[in-house]
Amino acid sequence: MTRINKAACIGGGVIGGGWIARFLLAGIDVDVFDPHPEATRIVGEVLANAQKAYAMLTGAPLPPRGKLTFRDTLEAAVGDADWIQESVPERLDLKRKVLTQIDAVAKPDALIGSSTSGLLPTDLQRDMRHPERLFVAHPYNPVYLLPLVEIVGGEKTSMETIKAAMERLPPIGMKGVHIAKEIEAFVGDRLLEALWREALWLIKDDICTVETLDDVIRYSFGLRWAQMGLFQTYRIAGGEAGMRHFLAQFGPALKWNWTKLMDVVDLDDALVEKIGQQSDEQAAGLSIRELERIRDENLVGILQTLKRSHGGEGWGAGKLLKDFEQGLWAATDGGEKLDVAQPLRLIDTKVSPAWVDYNGHMTEHRYLQVFGDTSDALLRVIGVDLAYVERGHSYYTVETHIRHLGEAKLGQAIHSTAQILGSDEKRLHVFHTIYDTANDEAIATAEQMLLHVDAKAGKAAPAPEEVLSKIRPIAEAHTKLPVPEGVGRHVGQKR
Ligand SMILES: NC(=O)c1ccc[n+]([C@@H]2O[C@H](COP(=O)([O-])OP(=O)(O)OC[C@H]3O[C@@H](n4cnc5c(N)ncnc54)[C@H](O)[C@@H]3O)[C@@H](O)[C@H]2O)c1
Repeated sequence: MTRINKAACIGGGVIGGGWIARFLLAGIDVDVFDPHPEATRIVGEVLANAQKAYAMLTGAPLPPRGKLTFRDTLEAAVGDADWIQESVPERLDLKRKVLTQIDAVAKPDALIGSSTSGLLPTDLQRDMRHPERLFVAHPYNPVYLLPLVEIVGGEKTSMETIKAAMERLPPIGMKGVHIAKEIEAFVGDRLLEALWREALWLIKDDICTVETLDDVIRYSFGLRWAQMGLFQTYRIAGGEAGMRHFLAQFGPALKWNWTKLMDVVDLDDALVEKIGQQSDEQAAGLSIRELERIRDENLVGILQTLKRSHGGEGWGAGKLLKDFEQGLWAATDGGEKLDVAQPLRLIDTKVSPAWVDYNGHMTEHRYLQVFGDTSDALLRVIGVDLAYVERGHSYYTVETHIRHLGEAKLGQAIHSTAQILGSDEKRLHVFHTIYDTANDEAIATAEQMLLHVDAKAGKAAPAPEEVLSKIRPIAEAHTKLPVPEGVGRHVGQKR
């Protein structure tokens, strides 16, 4: 995978701040230029939200955070960056000026992306000396959580630039879609604009309030869109006869005179006031920052659910997250830095919204998930990684005994350790503990027996020397540790 080594962000507002967080959390150094007197504070707040969200989003080992540097001039920020992202206000004259300044100082092979929501790349690149490296990279807010980037080239953009831009997105957890022809507002904002126009009419004509309109979306097709989009959803709606039947059934309705899509509503003072008032009521006193946090929590929960969908393979944005995490795990050092004289600290995470039950506590099966993640992490330490599993061997869990000693609440930082109690050529007997990271108190323990298997033959088989030689030093060091309290317990035994 081709990676971005250094990024520059020109403009650090809502969208620039989101890009900065996305790059930094993927381990990329970012230089920023934004003349706003409070740019540091604004970027800092976005970054704090992004870090909170990532702590809930993934238990995979994120790389050390990139270095953030604010510069006094655009030229200093562009420096030797190999991806420069322009996110200044949506005005053609301003963007042209800024992009021409970037073009004058950027490295010859640097990629220059514009966050514009709708301006044509051909118009943006007009005055550039090297227009072939300019493209639109249109993200969605919050950039640190929503993975999509619409990649759009102008008349003078080279195909190499498009290809290079697309390749650099997966390592930062993003998905580029190449839009075949440039068009104002690209694909996403054209769709949103159609919905927005119709929505404004519905409010103006008193058909419903803003709250009702939002309910109609979020209790119904909004949920469908997040996981299957439009066409795949309609394919299912066509029943067994599928898409062709759906088009035959509902196509003629398009000619009925229902919509006002082609008419633009007059956003006069009265309509602005009406929407403003209804929107204030809907917010019920929640500030923008509070709403952002709720939004992030919900998005994290949806992404995690999509990650587990389709028999665990992941679906849509969840599949992308799964691939991103696998890349992070693959980049870890295999545990060389672990202190084997102690139970191995393998998982550091936070209780995410998707893990919490109606009591606000971590729900039962999530304990097993964290213990399973701990075993997976231990297996990676002894060389049983995805490549090993693909070669046809693995360890299967054949027995688990979990004890619940405390509670874990939403957002709480927890970590887990693994102690090897015993091992032979087939068996690995382990004891895991989940701790409250704030006070190191044990919240739950699990005793497990893992069995080395030949997956193709479907039976236990001795582990090879390459694995046993990695288990041995840890197991030997762990024989010196006290036997943890709770080992060998059975259900119902008195404490
Ligand atoms: N807000 C969204 O939902 C959204 C989504 C996708 C794309 N976009 C696009 O992203 C771009 C930025 O939008 P935003 O919502 O972040 O706006 P914003 O007003 O929050 O941020 C713009 C930032 O640019 C800075 N700026 C102004 N002139 C500058 C200059 N000459 N050099 C460097 N910085 C300068 C401002 O100080 C400000 O911090 C626009 O093109 C917009 O269309 C916005």
